[in-house]
Amino acid sequence: MLSPFIVSLILAIAPGVIAQNTTNTTSLIEELIVAPDHVGRVADLPKDSEFVFDFLKPPAASVVQGAAGHLVLASVAAFPALVGNGVALLAGFLGPCGMNTPHTHPRATEFLYLVNGTLQNGMITETGSRFVVNNITAGQGMLLPQGSIHFQFNDNCEPVQFVSALNSEDPGTLLAAQGLFGLPAAIVAATLGEIGVEEVASLAEMIPDDVAYGSQECLTRCGISVGPGAQPTNEQVPRVSGNTLPSESVSASTTTAKSTAKAEVTNQSRDLLGGLASDDESEQPVVLGDISYNSEKGSGDHAALTALVILVMAMGSGYISLAVLFYVRRNKAAKAHGRGPAWATSEAMETAALTSPLEKYGKDEESYRFAGKSS
Ligand SMILES: *[C@@H]1O[C@H](CO)[C@@H](O)[C@H](O)[C@H]1NC(C)=O
Ligand SMILES: *[C@@H]1O[C@H](CO)[C@@H](O)[C@H](O)[C@H]1NC(C)=O
Ligand SMILES: *[C@@H]1O[C@H](CO)[C@@H](O)[C@H](O)[C@H]1NC(C)=O
Ligand SMILES: *[C@@H]1O[C@H](CO)[C@@H](O)[C@H](O)[C@H]1NC(C)=O
Ligand SMILES: *[C@@H]1O[C@H](CO)[C@@H](O)[C@H](O)[C@H]1NC(C)=O
Repeated sequence: MLSPFIVSLILAIAPGVIAQNTTNTTSLIEELIVAPDHVGRVADLPKDSEFVFDFLKPPAASVVQGAAGHLVLASVAAFPALVGNGVALLAGFLGPCGMNTPHTHPRATEFLYLVNGTLQNGMITETGSRFVVNNITAGQGMLLPQGSIHFQFNDNCEPVQFVSALNSEDPGTLLAAQGLFGLPAAIVAATLGEIGVEEVASLAEMIPDDVAYGSQECLTRCGISVGPGAQPTNEQVPRVSGNTLPSESVSASTTTAKSTAKAEVTNQSRDLLGGLASDDESEQPVVLGDISYNSEKGSGDHAALTALVILVMAMGSGYISLAVLFYVRRNKAAKAHGRGPAWATSEAMETAALTSPLEKYGKDEESYRFAGKSS
């Protein structure tokens, strides 16, 4: 009596999971695309469950996860049944102060419906049109036209959920900040005005993944503390020869060493890393209600790690040699001119060379990130 029930239960629950492992999604999508009509497409999807998408147990490929929430996009790549149907659906789960960071959908208009709570929705549809913003409440929807740069911000201390229909099975997403900073550094520097290419590199590496924390004011109000480095920054445009960052080797190795080598760096290399190593405590997992983000940066491969530590230490000794050289020369010059070399100590040199972007731009990362963004 019981076992047939259990078997049918397993059969009812399992196909979604099994389908992703046993069927080749790419070849299934190809089959669906070349089917002569929708009769053929339904025939290509023999299991009834292939028309179901589970937003609460989604395939990994459909999830965008940040420190402050996650999004699940059922588009054609994750849900082949959409082929030929011209629609996709997104479910948004924003934690307290969570922001779906500014982005566009190159191939779809979005019609958002708020399930609960209140949600700030802002957009610019194109150059020349005004900024449009609405605080919508549960049960209301907002239209976000194709190509508009838009964001959602949960400016409250409770999580909210929204659902968005998109009129393309492959709507695509372009994150605005990551997209801009994925262009060549010199182009970004010129676009932003009085800024150097090194600053572009520092800023690019600070851009938090979607869903990010929305504002320091909200975090303070909700009693959430987010240290610098607590948000993942992996959603960068891939670097190829045309858009490498100028100081990439330097900043990338120190950043990676900071994240992965916590247990391995000696006190000496910690000192060499200066301020960069001092925010270790911010690497703790962030847990918000039922949304948790666990930094994956700690799972570095050991050989690469050792190489990085050696590289960082080599760079550190390079700085020290430079500083010593500089100090000696200064000292000689000072003796000749009767002036003290107080400012030219090796500490001053190291600090100048290894100041993290946060220190350069002020300790408050949030207020820096939102400078010019807040209304
Ligand atoms: C399918 O793959 C996932 C990981 O990719 C694994 O956790 C799961 O056990 C697999 N399921 C089956 C039925 O093989
Ligand atoms: C899946 O199918 C595509 C296209 O038919 C093919 O290129 C790819 O190698 C297949 N992948 C696997 C794992 O079989
Ligand atoms: C919205 O619904 C989710 C899931 O049920 C819940 O965790 C959250 O607290 C709700 N938010 C509000 C503002 O009611
Ligand atoms: C939306 O709510 C925020 C507070 O969350 C408030 O500062 C802002 O003025 C409101 N905007 C509109 C258009 O009502
Ligand atoms: C490294 O420094 C920490 C505190 O800064 C200290 O507790 C620890 O004993 C030091 N370790 C070594 C090996 O010197």
